[in-house]
Amino acid sequence: MQNVAYLFNSPKEYAMNVVDLPEVATAYDKVGVYDQDAINGFSEQMLTTMLDIVNPGHASTILDAMAGNGNLTLRLYDYCERRGLFPPDIAVLEYSRVQCELAKEQLADTPAKVIWGDILTMEDYENEELLPESVFDRVMLKSGNHEIPLINQLDLYNSIFRVLKPEGIFVNLGFLFDDVEERDQFREIARCKDSLADMHSAVKNRHFLTRDELYTHVSNHGVNSLKINKLIS
Ligand SMILES: C[S@@+](CC[C@H](N)C(=O)[O-])C[C@H]1O[C@@H](n2cnc3c(N)ncnc32)[C@H](O)[C@@H]1O
Repeated sequence: MQNVAYLFNSPKEYAMNVVDLPEVATAYDKVGVYDQDAINGFSEQMLTTMLDIVNPGHASTILDAMAGNGNLTLRLYDYCERRGLFPPDIAVLEYSRVQCELAKEQLADTPAKVIWGDILTMEDYENEELLPESVFDRVMLKSGNHEIPLINQLDLYNSIFRVLKPEGIFVNLGFLFDDVEERDQFREIARCKDSLADMHSAVKNRHFLTRDELYTHVSNHGVNSLKINKLIS
């Protein structure tokens, strides 16, 4: 099992698919306050490396997608302040209303815009509008893609590349498995844990990707460069 950060550059080729909203977010309404990085074992160094790759000094607009309580965005502001960088405009997209409220609270002293919406459609539910295409220099995703069911995984990347500028960069930190058997075992453990925690939608929806699955999905997007930093293994 590996935690990895990816960099994808993509041309503006995409297909917009509108899909049914998964029930997965209800699990995060239930979870409430928690520390995702501690659960995943993401170290300070790993998170800083992710932000080095995001390179906010060279971006004017960033989307923190599936952002939970906005912890990555908060970290990004801190990263910029410590380095004397002017922070980019940041939008925080999250489907769970509870997590949105936590993000609003946590980011209250920042200019970040918290959007209650769905990454699969990029719909802003409050304004009932889709986020425009080609607006972000970066899309950051931390510990997010495994929440999306296999059937919607392609929609996830379609949606991300739709809102990325043609020269934009998608930076992903999450789980990736080389071995199918290991992935399946991990999936079973997660399913058992989620079921004990009453996170029934997560029991049903979660899909942990193998490297082959991920590469197949992103290669459908005309991705023209793929850089992988193995951070731990
Ligand atoms: C494992 S948490 C990670 C949160 C945050 N990125 C972090 O690292 O702390 C996954 C988050 O994705 C959100 N989520 C699930 N499905 C979503 C969807 N379709 N659109 C937007 N957010 C979604 C969940 O509500 C949850 O907050």
